Amino acid sequence: MKQRAFTVRVAEYDRPEELPDQQAWLVKMAKDAAGNAYAPYSGYHVGAAVLLSNGKVVTGNNQENASYPSGLCAERVAIFHAGSQYPGVAVTTIAIAAMEGGVFQEHPVSPCGGCRQVLYEKEAQGETPMEVILYGTGMVRVLRSATDLLPLPFSFRKKNP
Ligand code: THU
Repeated sequence: MKQRAFTVRVAEYDRPEELPDQQAWLVKMAKDAAGNAYAPYSGYHVGAAVLLSNGKVVTGNNQENASYPSGLCAERVAIFHAGSQYPGVAVTTIAIAAMEGGVFQEHPVSPCGGCRQVLYEKEAQGETPMEVILYGTGMVRVLRSATDLLPLPFSFRKKNP
């Protein structure tokens, strides 16, 4: 038996104003997208903005449904939207923001497990890591790669790291 450790390095900005311009710009797109979420059941409005390697930005937000499991998270709406509009184009960065009662969360939002799997596979299709920006009004986290969110992902007929 041997033990292995998987280390995740996270940059934390105590104030969103400290973010470099390009990251701040993508965060703004995610915040704007959150404002258009359809979330009448949870009242939790999430927005995601993805920057593609061709320079385009695609956004998404959570889309709920009276049949609850039929709804979808903001991250997956954005990633699938990007895949449908620009097939085969890598995502270089994703920014995510969430608000409740019209107020953005203080603590950075963190994607659910299902979204992590989708982010991981999108990253694995390309050749560059996908930077992940998790926005909160009191702190912003930046991860270098989607794999940092899911160290032992499911891959179809491929080995884990
Ligand atoms: N939600 C997202 O859009 N992204 C996440 O990462 C977590 C949760 C949505 C799903 C649902 O519409 C609402 O937030 C409450 O769970």
